[in-house]
Amino acid sequence: MSELCNEKHTYGNLINGRWVESASGNVITITSPADGSFIGEIQAVSREEVDEVIRYSKEGLSLWAGVPIFEKAQILYNAAELLEERTEEIADILMMEIAKDRKSSVSEVKRTADFLRFTADAGKSLEGIAVSGENFPGGSRNKISYVRRVPLGTVLAISPFNYPINLSASKIAPALMGGNTVILKPATQGAISALHLVKALQDAGLPGGVLQTVTGKGSEIGDYIVTHENINFINFTGSTEVGRHLSKISCMTPLLLELGGKDAALVLEDADLKYAASNIVEGAFSYSGQRCTAVKRIITTDKVADQLVDMLKTGIEKLSVGDPRDNVVVTPLIDQKSADFAEFLIQDAVAKGAELIVGNKREGNLVYPTLLDKVTVDMEIAWKEPFSPILPIIRVKDMEEAVEIANRSEYGLQSSVFTKDINKAFRIAEKLEVGTVQINNKTERGPDHFPFLGVKASGMGTQGVKYSIEAMTRPKAITINLTE
Ligand code: NAP
Ligand code: G3H
Repeated sequence: MSELCNEKHTYGNLINGRWVESASGNVITITSPADGSFIGEIQAVSREEVDEVIRYSKEGLSLWAGVPIFEKAQILYNAAELLEERTEEIADILMMEIAKDRKSSVSEVKRTADFLRFTADAGKSLEGIAVSGENFPGGSRNKISYVRRVPLGTVLAISPFNYPINLSASKIAPALMGGNTVILKPATQGAISALHLVKALQDAGLPGGVLQTVTGKGSEIGDYIVTHENINFINFTGSTEVGRHLSKISCMTPLLLELGGKDAALVLEDADLKYAASNIVEGAFSYSGQRCTAVKRIITTDKVADQLVDMLKTGIEKLSVGDPRDNVVVTPLIDQKSADFAEFLIQDAVAKGAELIVGNKREGNLVYPTLLDKVTVDMEIAWKEPFSPILPIIRVKDMEEAVEIANRSEYGLQSSVFTKDINKAFRIAEKLEVGTVQINNKTERGPDHFPFLGVKASGMGTQGVKYSIEAMTRPKAITINLTE
């Protein structure tokens, strides 16, 4: 056992450089969605402990400001190396804690190591500018504004269950390179994985108070942290429901919100159908569809729909289903409630006339990959984010209608357009109301230095290495007025 947890697998929080248990004695038991086994206990922090963490975070600001940027970067390089050394150990925890398949678990850890390195590099390249007053009418070259980016203060990072390592690191690392201190509130299911990331950062040399954690149920402690007067920025990834709530209560604290999606794949009649089908199957079903960017609906015309359905069915039937430790693609969902919701969406669609092509089988929280054809706009699955392995196909008369239905969604994360005609692809891409359009590829976030954003109910603000650093820093101008 390390200082991170005791022999009973009770995990503490990292507070001012030490792993400590809550004085209240309140803990939350974490069991595995894969087989119900006990994984460990995490702390349910009290309000007083939140106050204490925020106080240390404020003290940490001046300490961190004194660390030169190249040394900050070196800590991230060290952490990347430690993560890589600990890949197997952390991937094992991910597999059990969030039932992520082995391949995706390993890839999440390695991707995070790459993210840390890239962010360290980007942070080292941050430069200020000098602006001369003479550029503006009536201005003078005696006035020079020296502008550089400075930290916002204490960043509250709130991460979701589905990428506990990567979506924690993608907030923490850019915030740190921007000179902020960070308090991480990880998803309760996923917290143990996230604490291992934090341990790697601590072991890499982060001083106490610069990065701290607060675990506990969002529904109990979340509002208190979010509305705390000493939080200077909230970087949140999670559901639209919680994101909306946070934006209502956060008052004047700036927010970055990465929320839900209903990503559509528009398949045109001239598309390479075989390629589109295999690419969409991967995009829709990896990690059982529990990705904000999973392909969550296909919109196509009758002319190619039958052929596409056959190809999709073949691909889906080849997907392996079962325990994450067995190297499968589709694994149990995060909890029973999610599986109940998936079942409801399938039943609703079938009752309203959708054609079930494959799937609609469930064992506990393991939902088999399901393909529904002839889905219509009166069905819940046409609009709701399933966060499960369900792929609906909506048939339309032409691409004008496809774009209209794609845009009718409350969400606006990403969309795909599959076609061999780049002109058509561009024209359609211009009309889609989303953060990113993928031409001839499934919807996906990476590579992680690309801008990643959602519009409408999918979010506010932009992630991606340099975009995240920008979001968590502000310009500071010092104007020199020459008098001679
Ligand atoms: P969630 O239920 O919204 O939870 C996200 C985080 O918010 C968790 O840490 C949760 O803590 C916390 N939380 C809940 N209530 C809170 C409150 N009142 N104040 C502060 N924090 C609170 O989302 P999830 O189920 O973990 O993740 C799935 C959702 O995230 C999907 O909708 C998915 O599309 C979205 N997502 C979006 C992106 C993106 O980049 N656009 C990426 C990944 C996931 P607890 O766990 O303790 O409740
Ligand atoms: O769940 C949301 C993630 O940001 C998606 O990332 O496209 O790499 O799976 P991904």
